[in-house]
Amino acid sequence: MSTAPPRLLILAASPRRDGNSAALAAAVREGAQAAGTPAVVRFLDDHLGGFLRDCRQCRDADGRCRIDDGYRELFFDEFLPAQGVALCTPVYWYGMSAQAKAFFDRMFCYFARSYPDYAQTRAGVAGKKVALLTASEEIYPGVALGIVQQLQEYARYTRSQLVGTVHAYGNQRGEIVDAPEAPLEAARALGREFFTRRYWDLQFDSVR
Ligand SMILES: Cc1cc2nc3c(=O)[nH]c(=O)nc-3n(C[C@H](O)[C@H](O)[C@H](O)COP(=O)(O)O)c2cc1C
Repeated sequence: MSTAPPRLLILAASPRRDGNSAALAAAVREGAQAAGTPAVVRFLDDHLGGFLRDCRQCRDADGRCRIDDGYRELFFDEFLPAQGVALCTPVYWYGMSAQAKAFFDRMFCYFARSYPDYAQTRAGVAGKKVALLTASEEIYPGVALGIVQQLQEYARYTRSQLVGTVHAYGNQRGEIVDAPEAPLEAARALGREFFTRRYWDLQFDSVR
């Protein structure tokens, strides 16, 4: 039986390499590494060059997506094998960035029944621990709730567990470093406790 520690994939979904989402991503990684969790940060911009297309027109003879931009490698080599995934996104128009949305949309290509190994893909997508870290300029509690809701539904649908959310207020690049709410501390703690935080989806008939 493998005793390898669970792996964490951190997705940075802003085009700004020195921005607030990137700072959140780095803090999650720091926390994870302090706990001995292997963790990598990937910028979605490096792996996404286009939106989902009509799969019937796009697939090659083996059923693979023809968009050759590195998404496939990110998805199969890093996302599917990871036991945990932290999405760090700026708030764009009260939603996630287009990069983040495209990451989820493009999964469809390998998830849909028309893909030969769709069952294997679904098994790999299911059951992860997921977390959401957001950065916005506006300071009010509801600004990122649409994204929280979306990730919660994603988690329910894929039988994953949403183990934490962190929100940072800031606009200039890296401004959240000095934010009084100390979001980077919260991000580090999330990384440290990613696989140990108590998660409880309490239901009416749960035994307690
Ligand atoms: C296209 C775009 C849309 C944005 N929409 C919002 C918004 O709806 N609400 C908000 O508070 N901030 C909005 N912002 C500001 C960013 O969320 C904020 O600057 C954030 O810290 C950027 O994160 P980053 O440094 O990771 O790119 C928007 C910024 C851009 C570029």
